[in-house]
Amino acid sequence: MEHKIIVVGIGPGSKDYMIPAALETIEQAQVLVGSSRAIEQYGRKDGQTKFIIRADIEEVMAFIGRQLENNDVVVMVSGDPGYYSLLEAIRRHFEDAKLEVIPGLSSMQVAFAKLGLSWYEAELVSLHGRTVSSERLVYYPGKVLGLLTDKKNNSKTIPAMLKKLGWPAGAMVAICNRLSYPDEKIIITTIGEAARLETVYLNCVLVVKS
Ligand SMILES: C[S@@+](CC[C@H](N)C(=O)[O-])C[C@H]1O[C@@H](n2cnc3c(N)ncnc32)[C@H](O)[C@@H]1O
Repeated sequence: MEHKIIVVGIGPGSKDYMIPAALETIEQAQVLVGSSRAIEQYGRKDGQTKFIIRADIEEVMAFIGRQLENNDVVVMVSGDPGYYSLLEAIRRHFEDAKLEVIPGLSSMQVAFAKLGLSWYEAELVSLHGRTVSSERLVYYPGKVLGLLTDKKNNSKTIPAMLKKLGWPAGAMVAICNRLSYPDEKIIITTIGEAARLETVYLNCVLVVKS
């Protein structure tokens, strides 16, 4: 296949957190694929063929396949492509395609940075639409956890689950919501208190440490 698929990480949301190579690639794209938010934010008004990713992934792959016959296709994904994104599905679907990846800042990296914490020894886990074995979450002194969340596994349910896995009630929970946006909110609380907060945060990063 002559044309290539370029998967571009657009970071946690704000343009300020995107690398110049990503901005440049999106700017130059003839064919641009992304979430409605990404297309709204980065799609040039005319001359560009745009496709909004909805729930039907097969439809996205079919669109990319058709476009590849004549053009390179730029696919925007949130955060970093290598960290829980459409990249895996694209790799499975287009085994022989020429693929390029432009990295982005993962929401996980940004959360640790905002808290001034290192993340090289942290246990990093995604509970966004998936489950993990409890061994990865179980408490030991000094453990640091970074978690991606979703509707079901959120700022209320995760601390309650961690308590059952031996985490002390006083362990710190940082709820990092809408990272990089003007209304970014970082709430520092504890395992014991998190369940009692009025607002439940559904799509955030949780950093937990004792
Ligand atoms: C499907 S995962 C995608 C992760 C992405 N590839 C990355 O590297 O950040 C979506 C989850 O990432 C987290 N997330 C993405 N953007 C975020 C942001 N701006 N603020 C807080 N959490 C974010 C949330 O946990 C959300 O449910």
